[in-house]
Amino acid sequence: MQHKLYYPNPELSKNASVKSMDEYNELQNFAKRDYEGFWDSFAKEKITWKKPYTKVLDDSNMPFARWFEGGELNVSEQCIDRHLEKNGEKTAILFEGELGDIQKITYNQLSVHVNKTANLLRERYGVTKGDRVVIYMPMIPEAAFMMLACARIGAIHSIVFGGFSSDAIRDRVIGAQAKLIITADGAYRKGKPYLLKPAVDEAISKGGCESVKNVLIVKRNNEEINIVEGRDEIYNDLIDSYSDKCVAESMASEDPLFLLYTSGSTGQPKGVQHNQAGYILWAQMTMEWVFDIKPDDIYWCTADIGWITGHTYIVYGPLAAGATTVMYEGIPLYPDAGRWWKMIEELKVTQFYTAPTAIRMLHKVGNDEPDKYDLSSLRILGTVGEPINPEAWDWYHNKIGGGTCPIVDTWWQTETGGHMISPLPGATPIQAGCATLPVPGIMAEVLEEDGTPTPVGEKGLLCITKPWPAMIRNVWGDPERFKKAYFGDCKKDGKPVYFSGDGAMIDEKGYITITGRTDDVMNVSGHRIGSAEVEASIGNAEFVAESAVVSEPHDIKGESLCAFVILNLTEHAGFEEMSKEINNIIKNEVGAFAKCDRFVFVPGLPKTRSGKIMRRILRLIAVGEEITQDISTLEDPSVVEAIIKATQEQS
Ligand code: WT7
Repeated sequence: MQHKLYYPNPELSKNASVKSMDEYNELQNFAKRDYEGFWDSFAKEKITWKKPYTKVLDDSNMPFARWFEGGELNVSEQCIDRHLEKNGEKTAILFEGELGDIQKITYNQLSVHVNKTANLLRERYGVTKGDRVVIYMPMIPEAAFMMLACARIGAIHSIVFGGFSSDAIRDRVIGAQAKLIITADGAYRKGKPYLLKPAVDEAISKGGCESVKNVLIVKRNNEEINIVEGRDEIYNDLIDSYSDKCVAESMASEDPLFLLYTSGSTGQPKGVQHNQAGYILWAQMTMEWVFDIKPDDIYWCTADIGWITGHTYIVYGPLAAGATTVMYEGIPLYPDAGRWWKMIEELKVTQFYTAPTAIRMLHKVGNDEPDKYDLSSLRILGTVGEPINPEAWDWYHNKIGGGTCPIVDTWWQTETGGHMISPLPGATPIQAGCATLPVPGIMAEVLEEDGTPTPVGEKGLLCITKPWPAMIRNVWGDPERFKKAYFGDCKKDGKPVYFSGDGAMIDEKGYITITGRTDDVMNVSGHRIGSAEVEASIGNAEFVAESAVVSEPHDIKGESLCAFVILNLTEHAGFEEMSKEINNIIKNEVGAFAKCDRFVFVPGLPKTRSGKIMRRILRLIAVGEEITQDISTLEDPSVVEAIIKATQEQS
């Protein structure tokens, strides 16, 4: 199928950071010709080093790559201090609360907040270099202060998305052996206050969190919360008495910066570890190349700081680039489906970055809303997290972007730290639903398992064949799992290369289209969910013997979850009752976003003789497609017929 190409508008190209395909090719050829020279030139130019590095890349112990060895820096200085002389009065964070309250925090003010906070963490709680801090916060400026304060004193933050349950907090606290949890009383959502602090109390009360000595609470909605004497303290009551000068810790390039847990195809979520220099370099470079950030821009990414998109493209990237980053507390539907478009008009947003699932939802429930607002400030649009379908793309392109703003469809992952495959807005002709080309410096290839390039137009494995500065450094505390999870599936020239878990297709132009996960990782509303996690949770219902969860296509969410469940009893309360009960368990143990839309109660599951569940077969059954593959290798082929029958009866 041939898709239309949209060429960059010349006005935009003229001043863009990368102005043409010639410039793009020049950059990419530089990287191919002299990989270390390429990264060396940018690391020298972009980073304010406290001590220069002596080696660009050490890949002698792959997959444990080391970048900019010998160098020292502080990420909070890269994001704040170095901007103060020229841009101290520029707005760094432009916050809008759901109820409409606005805060403009300048770089000078950000410096004060972060330094005071860093001093508080250091002096009051004894948080020092290498300590882990769990952050469970809503979308308020203090969340960014906390991240940067950790970076300033060399503490490693591990943010837990506010939609996660107390069990998820507990697991992550234990995984990181965190000393401190930072949270808020709550925030506002759908126009009403909601609470976060009780989930922290619950997590700790479940036991195992003995590493936690204190809980620091930011007041946002002033709701009543439980305070444990000697453990819990209110940030707002303490912060005034700390100095606004804080000497930044000198961090080695390869010291850890943060952990962020993400779902894999097997087992419990993995603590993805990102380190200092390479991560911040790439966060900043991609802000310049992919979002073409300029001094007067008002840049808005709608993600939550609990996900990697929020880390890299709300906090670290924009601030390292000295930009103004918008932060919004609430939901896109409050008070109506025009909220985001109203904000774009009022704040004069120039770059807008969101997820396809949000675009589909706002298209469906508020098709005419964009017409009510002046969206002419927009210059560049972006999408992330999942494939975007042509209808949503067209609506975004025409209704929001007025047919003239390029859409950067950015493919990347928690593990990649920053953008990997994306158009550059002034250079790359764009095509609906296509992430196009690797960002310069990134060696992305579509390969077969043995490393031969997959032919044009056929599905292969999306691999990154050279280490890049912002790549995952380790799975926290589990180097074996790191190797196995990312470097176990694909080899090139006999050597293991990074496999993303995604399938992809390359065309004659070299454009890469992502075809979706090849493993058991699912993507619901842009949230990454592993089948193993949901199944573990379902297994905790006392009437469940076994289950298998797959995803099926969903109009708005992209994918929704369908669970096939084997019961361990014959008498039961009814399918509906049990479905509700299971979803409650999932909500408590994982989070509401991982609830299943559909349950099918079945007598068995399709398993190979070695006991592996063939989820592929279940995916076909869920959508009512014919099974054409050979099922004779199943332990019990007749089970397929029985599952199909149950699915039909229960739909
Ligand atoms: C997975 C990574 C990247 C930050 C947000 C999600 C899917 C991501 C795209 C895209 C098609 C995409 C992939 C990837 N994905 N971007 N532009 N087109 N699919 O980060 O939670 O680590 O999820 O999201 O399947 O592997 P994440």
